[in-house]
Amino acid sequence: MPKEGQRGFGIDVGGSGVKGGVVDLRTGELIGERIKILTPQPSTPDAIAETAAKIVEEAGWQGAVGLTLPSVVKAGKVHTAANIDHSWIGTDAVELFSNAFGGRSVTVLNDADAAGLAEDAYGAGRDVAGVVMLLTFGTGIGSAVLNHGMLLPNTELGHMEVDGKEAEHRAASSVKDRKGLSYESWAERVTRVLRRYEELFWPDLFIAGGGISRKGEKWIPHLDLRTPIVPAKLLNTAGIVGAAMAAEGATATAAAALS
Ligand code: BGC
Repeated sequence: MPKEGQRGFGIDVGGSGVKGGVVDLRTGELIGERIKILTPQPSTPDAIAETAAKIVEEAGWQGAVGLTLPSVVKAGKVHTAANIDHSWIGTDAVELFSNAFGGRSVTVLNDADAAGLAEDAYGAGRDVAGVVMLLTFGTGIGSAVLNHGMLLPNTELGHMEVDGKEAEHRAASSVKDRKGLSYESWAERVTRVLRRYEELFWPDLFIAGGGISRKGEKWIPHLDLRTPIVPAKLLNTAGIVGAAMAAEGATATAAAALS
């Protein structure tokens, strides 16, 4: 059993579910169960805070809490709300959650950034030197850019214009579903977007995240890129793990030292 200081607590706030759990920061694995509650509708700050408080209580967790949002978050304040209620914009998320959890220490970060931290420390980016770029393909496209484990937060590459259209409107996995595209023709769209990213950022590795990365063998081989690309390893726990790392100030280097 990991000691105090080797454990953290993360909550991943998504469009359909709010998921949380205790994380072993030596391994990046969950200790015990992942607790999931359906995202309340409308997904307003107060409704989400209440849901998150239930998860913390159910887990019996007493310490600091890290949370993700599908938003640009700077110094605890929410600046965008792509797939959650628009009333989040302008909310001081740290204050909101800290009040909901009885005044404890809270860290809030972008969902893809959290997944990137986790994959870089424990998953597909582990031991990779240089620039790692994680993209999550879901309702939108989330991005995380890390250089030797150091995150450049809030990159929002899903909103970059590629051939006159926002990248996520062209190549999120929701576009595949909506248009009924085959893996192969969707992969052409993803290639177009990732080529643009590699032209501008020259990453050493792409990590493909989001639910569709579970079926990576169906579409990753169809991509035509200069940069190596691998599926994410942590899948549905990456956000929780990254949030817990952020709450405990655990960088990739710190995680390696703990393990
Ligand atoms: C949002 C990002 C988020 C991504 C994945 C995008 O639409 O702008 O902040 O990381 O979706 O949820």
